[in-house]
Amino acid sequence: MCGIVAYLGDKEAEPLLLEGLRRLEYRGYDSSGIAVLNGGGLELVKKVGRIQQLERALASHPLHGSLGISHTRWATHGKATDINAHPHTDASGKLAIVHNGVIENYGVLKKKLAEKGYSFRTETDTEVLAVLIGFHFDTLDTETENRLEMAVMEALREITGTYGLVAIHQDQPGIMVGARRGSPLVLGIGPHEHFLASDVSAVAAHTQTVAHLRDFDVVTIDRNGYRLKSLTHNKAGLEISRIDYQAADTELGDFPHFMLKEIFEQTISIQNAVRGRLNIEESTAQLGGLNLTPQEIREIDRIVITGCGTAMHSGMVGEYIIESLAHVPVEVEWASEFRLRNSPLDRRTLVIAVSQSGETEDTLGALREARRKGHRVLGICNNVASTLARETDGGVYMYAGPEVSVAATKSFTSQAVIFLLLALLLGRMRFLSGTQGKEIIQAIEALPDQITQILKQSAHIRSIAEKYRKADSMLFFGRQMQYGIALEGALKMKEITYIHAEGHPTAELKHGIIALVDEDTPSVFLCPRDGAYDKNSNNMQQVRARKGPVIAVATEGDEEIHQHADDIICIPAAPEYVTPILSVIPLQLFAYHMAVILGRDVDKPRNLAKSVTVP
Ligand code: AGP
Ligand code: GLU
Repeated sequence: MCGIVAYLGDKEAEPLLLEGLRRLEYRGYDSSGIAVLNGGGLELVKKVGRIQQLERALASHPLHGSLGISHTRWATHGKATDINAHPHTDASGKLAIVHNGVIENYGVLKKKLAEKGYSFRTETDTEVLAVLIGFHFDTLDTETENRLEMAVMEALREITGTYGLVAIHQDQPGIMVGARRGSPLVLGIGPHEHFLASDVSAVAAHTQTVAHLRDFDVVTIDRNGYRLKSLTHNKAGLEISRIDYQAADTELGDFPHFMLKEIFEQTISIQNAVRGRLNIEESTAQLGGLNLTPQEIREIDRIVITGCGTAMHSGMVGEYIIESLAHVPVEVEWASEFRLRNSPLDRRTLVIAVSQSGETEDTLGALREARRKGHRVLGICNNVASTLARETDGGVYMYAGPEVSVAATKSFTSQAVIFLLLALLLGRMRFLSGTQGKEIIQAIEALPDQITQILKQSAHIRSIAEKYRKADSMLFFGRQMQYGIALEGALKMKEITYIHAEGHPTAELKHGIIALVDEDTPSVFLCPRDGAYDKNSNNMQQVRARKGPVIAVATEGDEEIHQHADDIICIPAAPEYVTPILSVIPLQLFAYHMAVILGRDVDKPRNLAKSVTVP
C-alpha cells in the first residue's frame, strides 16, 4: 500500500501535493517524493524517511509548476532508499510515474528491456513499468496526439499485477494519465483543477466532487477536463459523487496521537454503527443494506466470516455472539487462508467479509473466491467508497469516520457491535423472544456510558504500563468470547510497542505456554465474571505460582480478583455478549501507553502500513 496524490490546475502543485501526502501518510511512510512539470521540464525530489524529510529537502529546493505527482511509499520491491522512492523515471528522464501495487511480471519485462539496451537504477518493480511506458512513448510518432495515454495503455497491456498509477511526461506538459487495477484511485474534480489520489482524504479539502476509477479505467486529464478510456472496452462513464467528508476528521485536535483520539472516539463511533438500526417496537435490528428478504435471512444456515488482523479478531467475537444469540453455526477464517482453500460451502451459507479499509488484498481475494463459487457475500466495512463495498452483494457500513492510526481501535468495536446487531436480527427470527431482544437492545444502548467509565481509567492503565515497561515479552489469555480479545490485545501490543506478545485461549496455558512464564513476563488475563471465572482464576494462580505477574481485566465489584492478580483494570458489569466490546478497550489503552512510554512512533509503527493492498 502507498499513497498517491497528483494535481493539474492553476495553482502551485507542491504545497497541495505535500498537504495531500500528509493526509495519506498512514498508507505508507518509508519514503516519499514529488515530481513537477514546469516550463523548463521535469523536476523531481525524493527522500527516504517521513514526509518531513521530503519537506526539508523541498525547502532548499522548491519545485514550481502547476502539474505534479507525488507518492508516499510502503516498499514491496527494493529497500526504502532515496533512489527506490517514487516517482520513477524512464530512460529519457522525461517521464515520471507514481505507482501503488505490484508488477508481478517485472522480472521478465526487465530482462526484455535490458536486451533492448535499457538499464535500471533501482530495485523496484515500478521503475520497470516507467521504462516500459517510456519505451512505448518513444516508439510512437512524435505527432501522435494522445501519445502519453497510448503509451500507458500499451504498457499496461503487457503487465500482470496491480496498479494505481499516474504518469506525466515532459514532452506532453499539460497532461497527466491515471490508471487503476486493484489499487484505488479517485479523481477529484474542481472548477479549474483536477486531482488523482489514493483516497478522498487527500482531496477533500479542495473539492467534494469525486469519481472512483474502476479496474482497467484509464483517465487522461488536461486543462480542459478529463477523458476516460478502458483497457477492457468498458463504455460506461465514471460515476460522479459528492463526498460527505470533513477534513477535520483527519486532524488530531487536542490529542497527541490519532490512536488515542480514536480510542476515545469509541463512545461515538459505537453509536454511529447502531444509529437507525434498532427497531425498538419489535425488539430487533434492521439492516437494510443486507439486501436480503426476511425469507432469505431465515434460510441462512451457516455463516463464514473472513478478514485479516483486527478485522479477523472482531469476526472471532462475532462467531461467539451469533452462535450464542442466534444459534446459527459460524466459522471464522483468515482471508488469506480462505481464499486459497477449497472450502465446501453450501447454498445457504452466507459469507461475511470484514474490513475497515475495504481494500485489503487478501480480504478482497477471499470475497472474490466466494462470489466466483456463487455465494452471497456481505461486507462489514468502514470505507463506503472501497472496492469491498462495491464488490459485495450487500452489507453494513460502520460509519466510524476515518481511522488514521495504523493500529485499528474504533473499527474493532464498531465491527463487534454490528455483529451484535446481526445476531439480534437472526436471533429474533429464530429463538429469541421479544423480552430477550429488548435486553440485548438495552445492553447495546448502555455501551457508550460503559466505555466512558473505562476511558476514565486511562491514567491508571498508564501506571500499569510504567510498571512493566521493561518487559520483553507479554502473554494475553482469554476464553470463549474473550479469546479474540486476547489475540487483539497481543496484536496491539506487538504492532505499536515491538514487545513480543502472544494471545492464547486461556486453557492452552498448561499445554506449553506456561514454559514462557517467569517473573519478567506479565500475563494479561481477560476474566470478567462469567461462567469461566473459576477456571480463569485457577490459571492465574498457576502463573503466579511460577512468579509470573498477572494483570486482570475484571468486572467492577469483583472483590475476589484481588487474590488472583497483581494489577486490575475494571470493566462495568454487562451481559456476556457485550463484554468483548468493553474488555478490548483497556488493552488498546495499555498498548498505547506502553508505546508512548517506550518512545515509539505510535501512529506509524515500523514496517507497517494501514492497509495491506499488496499480496
Ligand atoms: C490492526 O491494528 C492492523 N493494523 C491490521 O491487522 C488490520 O486490522 C488488517 O490489516 C486488516 O485491515 P482492514 O480492516 O482494513 O481490512
Ligand atoms: N511496488 C512498489 C514499490 O515497491 C509500490 C508498492 C506499494 O504499493 O506500496 O515501490
